[in-house]
Amino acid sequence: MGRLDNKVVFITGAARGQGRSHAIRMAEEGAAIIAVDICDQIPSVFYPMSTKEDLDETVELVRGVGGRIIAEVADVRDRDALEAAYKLGIAEFGHVDTVLANAGIMPVINEGAQRQAWFDGIDTMLTGVWHTMEVALPGMIARGQGGSILITSSAAGLGSIGLNTLPGQAAYSAAKHGVVGLMRLYASQLAVHGIRVNTVHPGGTATPMVINDGYRAFVEEFPEIAAGPKFQNPMHQPPLDPINVSQTMVFLASDDAKYITGVTLSVDAGYMNR
Ligand SMILES: NC(=O)c1ccc[n+]([C@@H]2O[C@H](COP(=O)([O-])OP(=O)(O)OC[C@H]3O[C@@H](n4cnc5c(N)ncnc54)[C@H](O)[C@@H]3O)[C@@H](O)[C@H]2O)c1
Repeated sequence: MGRLDNKVVFITGAARGQGRSHAIRMAEEGAAIIAVDICDQIPSVFYPMSTKEDLDETVELVRGVGGRIIAEVADVRDRDALEAAYKLGIAEFGHVDTVLANAGIMPVINEGAQRQAWFDGIDTMLTGVWHTMEVALPGMIARGQGGSILITSSAAGLGSIGLNTLPGQAAYSAAKHGVVGLMRLYASQLAVHGIRVNTVHPGGTATPMVINDGYRAFVEEFPEIAAGPKFQNPMHQPPLDPINVSQTMVFLASDDAKYITGVTLSVDAGYMNR
């Protein structure tokens, strides 16, 4: 018996990285997965974003652990496209009880696309999170069986750990803090429906968002930033593995966490506790 048997999870940003890891781990625990990803490049982002092949690989990997999944290409900035993907998921699995708003970008070191980086960051990681909740909530409330909304924020949503003051970095910090406000509002308003809402705040995690040539070049150009105290982790110096975040997501989605709502939960090996 899995900890997420009979649950259906709507996950954004599932083509790779943490979203893929969450999809696989949740499927191992019995959940059916509705996976969404943009599978395209946003020009202000300095590293390569996901492809349709990445999303197809997530599908294969979930099926490989015996899971059920439907995957659709959609941009969380586009509410109609996201809702269409959600509806295809409902047609397949009947309902959604768990939302995992994970899609994100880090347009923080692209000097060439500065002003646009602000809007892309906010549109994806604040408005996109709101869209993700909004398309799923009417069905969750009407079903009347509660549920769990999980929002991937960041350590950068709890304090200042920015690389610079370019607009993309400002957007990253603002959006990751902003979803905490959304979480608190929705957690209080949705408690009456038995729907829990929490944010998860990973520290540096080994995914293509930070393991890429552009990020490496930035660290080489500004070694004092990477070596500075703000980027030292007391317990775990290399980045976390996505599975460490996935285990937390499984817990928060499961009935083991049935009275946990309105919480900002760090998964950062003590990074922010300094
Ligand atoms: N990697 C880290 O160090 C780290 C640390 C803290 C928080 N986070 C957050 O974790 C989440 C997952 O990131 P990751 O580390 O797996 O990076 P990633 O780049 O590997 O994965 C992010 C996924 O989101 C998708 N995506 C981006 N914009 C989208 C959009 N507009 N619509 C739909 N999909 C979109 C991407 O295509 C990609 O597949 C993000 O919200 C990120 O901000 C990452």
